[in-house]
Amino acid sequence: MKTSSLETSYTLRDWQGGYKSLTQEFDYWIDDIEGEIPPELQGTLFRNGPGLLDVYGQSLRHPFDGDGMVSRITFTNGRAHFCNRFVRTTGYLKEQKARKILYRGVFGTRKSGGWLANAFNFKLKNIANTNVIYWGGKLLALWEAAEPYRLDPYTLETLGQEYFGGALSVGETFSAHPRFDPRGTLVNFGIKPGSSTKITIFELNLEGEVISKYAHIVPGFCFIHDFLITPKYCIFFQNPLNFNPLPFALGIVGVGECLRFMPHRPTRIILIPRTEEVGVKILETQAGFIFHHVNAFEVGDKSVVIDSICYETLTQVEPQKDFRQTDFAAKSPGQIWRFNLDLHQNTVQPELIDVRSCEFPSIHPAHVGRTYRYLYVGATHAPVGNAPLQAIGKIDLDSGERHLWSAAPQGFVGEPVFVPRPNSLQEDDGWVLTLVYDAAHHRSDVVILDAKNFSRGPVARLHLQHHIPYGLHGTFTTQLFKEI
Ligand code: FE2
Repeated sequence: MKTSSLETSYTLRDWQGGYKSLTQEFDYWIDDIEGEIPPELQGTLFRNGPGLLDVYGQSLRHPFDGDGMVSRITFTNGRAHFCNRFVRTTGYLKEQKARKILYRGVFGTRKSGGWLANAFNFKLKNIANTNVIYWGGKLLALWEAAEPYRLDPYTLETLGQEYFGGALSVGETFSAHPRFDPRGTLVNFGIKPGSSTKITIFELNLEGEVISKYAHIVPGFCFIHDFLITPKYCIFFQNPLNFNPLPFALGIVGVGECLRFMPHRPTRIILIPRTEEVGVKILETQAGFIFHHVNAFEVGDKSVVIDSICYETLTQVEPQKDFRQTDFAAKSPGQIWRFNLDLHQNTVQPELIDVRSCEFPSIHPAHVGRTYRYLYVGATHAPVGNAPLQAIGKIDLDSGERHLWSAAPQGFVGEPVFVPRPNSLQEDDGWVLTLVYDAAHHRSDVVILDAKNFSRGPVARLHLQHHIPYGLHGTFTTQLFKEI
């Protein structure tokens, strides 16, 4: 029986439009605006994500394999400017010159020529597509399996790979999920997986210098995409996964397709101390899969509270299936859970915070690693089940109140970024910025929501002249890089 589109908040055809490549690079002042850009909103929103979903017509197997494209949206004096550039990685330049796929992708993209061309070819392309940060005067495009690429924030020109004055070695990984400690440091990690896994932690000062680097070996294989910080700890979740590299070595599948979820094994929570006062702690909780965490905070010496987006299981990448044909209804939803850790008893008490499926959490930057009240998240329009993200949710963790702004049926949202109003005193006094793909016009909008008043709808909706393929992560800085 044919499913009526009225039964869902979207059509697959509309959603698929956001996975078309954007080959052009733009540079213009946005003049098609509904509402008013708040004049106090001054600064730059950087976004990163796969800009190309094909290489000259050869389709990628998975969007996560797409070349990084950085967008820069400048807000100044009530106006906004847009600019985008591809990260000119070595792999991007070579493939654009050859006009075909030359590298295997982590998520299954294969070189042409069948398995024989792919077997025992372990050369992956650093696609620099997952996040973009401005720290210590440097704009960095991040991808978790390699070194960052540095860009010129004024022109978005690619300047080369970044090694922080030799603190990072060639080929060493620097994750795409750094945490900004409000005390003025950037904390990040790199993973070297194997039968045991080496987790290296980097702390950078405001000048962008690596002021500390320390490593910890964890028993077993780890796939760790994100982590958490508190003043005392860096916290990692070891998802219960098994990794069998043989099909990858034989050129049959990508590395990401060799992961298997092990539902009978626990998830391990690893707390690595940032100070010498405490030791490493490992706690166990129920099996689950986590890409992204919201926040963590300490409650005295005894406990740590962690909020994360958890899936019941890892959705496997299916080698023979086109990602554009995703069956959302068959996927488990990502839901916000709170883990209450008792460090004296070594126990973990999990608690479901919200059943609505969501991804891409954001909080007030001054509350990272500290107690906090509000979180913002990309969410489904419907209260239950999995579906594309079409709404932005706000949760008040103290009162339990929820607010939702939905772009359904033809809008599809990206990661929200909370930006505090200058000199604000309340935690939710500010704006939530997000990109929305508008399938009705095959273009994207920059949406500005008043974080205190979601029900009012966007205070401004800035229509871009084109679409931006669904992105991953980005950050906001109060610095401006566009000449007025
Ligand atoms: Fe991520």
